[in-house]
Amino acid sequence: MEVILLSDPSAVRLLGARILAQQLRRRPDSVLGLATGQTMIGVYAQLAGMQLDGSQLTCFNLDEYVGLSPSHPASYRAYMEQHFYEPLGVNRQRAFVPDGQADDIEAECARYEQRIEAAGGLDLQLLGLGEDGHIGFNEPGSSLASRTRLKTLTPSTRAANQRDFGDGTTPLHVLTMGVGTILSARRVLLLAYGPKKAEAVAAMVEGPVTAMCPASALQFHPACTVVVDEAAGAHLRLADYYRTVYAHKPRAARERLEGPA
Ligand code: F6R
Repeated sequence: MEVILLSDPSAVRLLGARILAQQLRRRPDSVLGLATGQTMIGVYAQLAGMQLDGSQLTCFNLDEYVGLSPSHPASYRAYMEQHFYEPLGVNRQRAFVPDGQADDIEAECARYEQRIEAAGGLDLQLLGLGEDGHIGFNEPGSSLASRTRLKTLTPSTRAANQRDFGDGTTPLHVLTMGVGTILSARRVLLLAYGPKKAEAVAAMVEGPVTAMCPASALQFHPACTVVVDEAAGAHLRLADYYRTVYAHKPRAARERLEGPA
């Protein structure tokens, strides 16, 4: 894993947006795996201000709540409309979110996997990180070889996401890409900030690979970049080493990832 430690959340959001922008410039017809959540709102806002054309992109979201209509304001389809598809001019024919209202959930999950494959696979998968170490909605105990399927949210994830549901309750079930689906992406970019993520970041980067921290499976990915702020990286034992590696990263490699300074 490449671990990049930055001073604060705004630096993480900016670098995240720059890496995504560079991917779009290099390959305007990229196949992107995308995430929702609080972390990404500011990232997508930065990206929207970068005058990019997203019309040739194909987008697959990580997850969606089961039973929620796409027009529900807390649905991830609605989130993507507002924060990504509309500002970047994404062609909705190529903008996919798992259908949490499908009659046949298993068939929907299989179809989702087939669509990703038919698109040529994910060029870049963007990820946030759950406080319990989840990626997508692969909660602790998830198979590290899993593909898109139905999952049950843990009480801690439901509590964290309750903010989006006001007086209503956070659904219990979701459809999510599996850990195996995520690992199949050609490149992975994970962003996290704030002290609440510190334990999960340390477990993901430096802990043993275990289903108890599904994000730790990213240690097997050959091209995974993790960008965190100092608060989220506070429990990293090799923090100084990561800072040195990034400070001395060759300019050409840095520009390839982030675009010109
Ligand atoms: C969202 C997703 C989740 C979030 C994670 C962090 O599509 O798949 O894994 O990335 O729960 O959420 P925030 O950013 O709200 O802290």
